[in-house]
Amino acid sequence: MYRIAPSILSADFARLGEEVRAVIAAGADWIHFDVMDNHYVPNLTIGPGVAQAIKPHCVRADGTKVPLDVHLMVQPVDALAVAFAKAGADLISFHPDASAHVDRTLQLIRAQGCQAGLVFNPATPLDVLEWVLGGDSDKVDLVLIMSVNPGFGGQSFIESALRKCEAARKIISKSGRDIRLEVDGGIRCDNIRRIAEAGADTFVAGSAIFGQPDYKRVIDAMRSELAGAKPLRLAA
Ligand code: DX5
Ligand code: ZN
Repeated sequence: MYRIAPSILSADFARLGEEVRAVIAAGADWIHFDVMDNHYVPNLTIGPGVAQAIKPHCVRADGTKVPLDVHLMVQPVDALAVAFAKAGADLISFHPDASAHVDRTLQLIRAQGCQAGLVFNPATPLDVLEWVLGGDSDKVDLVLIMSVNPGFGGQSFIESALRKCEAARKIISKSGRDIRLEVDGGIRCDNIRRIAEAGADTFVAGSAIFGQPDYKRVIDAMRSELAGAKPLRLAA
């Protein structure tokens, strides 16, 4: 049930295809792809051309596909969401505060055949979820909680993300829908268990994995921490 999504932001960009294959061989469940536009966040990274180039590498030795998890830190969102869907994204997440019409953007992503996710910055409330996954609304496949301010890899985990994660897990569980809860930023072997215990099921890690020579060793260590995690108790 737990997924590890290495962020290629911390990979060697000069050898990106090779890095994607190496981290998949090491046990990655998803490939996390950070898109920054120097407008919504103060950094500039990679676009749909790079997503298209790495897509053929997102496959395991046995031929099964590894989902390409695109995290859009861009404003405006819609045109780039479509461009990434065409480039081969499987999941596309965006920050609700970067879209003028959140409901429309969610529909647009699903209409492109992708799963749609909403991303919440450390100081952004979860209120919008009430209107896109509560009641008769079923528009979200993934909730992504930022545990750093978006823009850079290698930052420290912000502790309040744990409380937000618990709150998001409660909302998801109340909705009765099959929605992934992903956390992104500052995740390492020494905190991943606590994050799982706050209700997360999918873990983005960039520098913790790509900053070490042996990716498998890090991913295995993360999985053994996760194996000891106690599930979050949800009040009835
Ligand atoms: C931050 C990005 C993250 C980042 C995580 O804006 O969204 O995905 O690459 O990197 P680490 O794991 O190094 O914090
Ligand atoms: Zn990210």
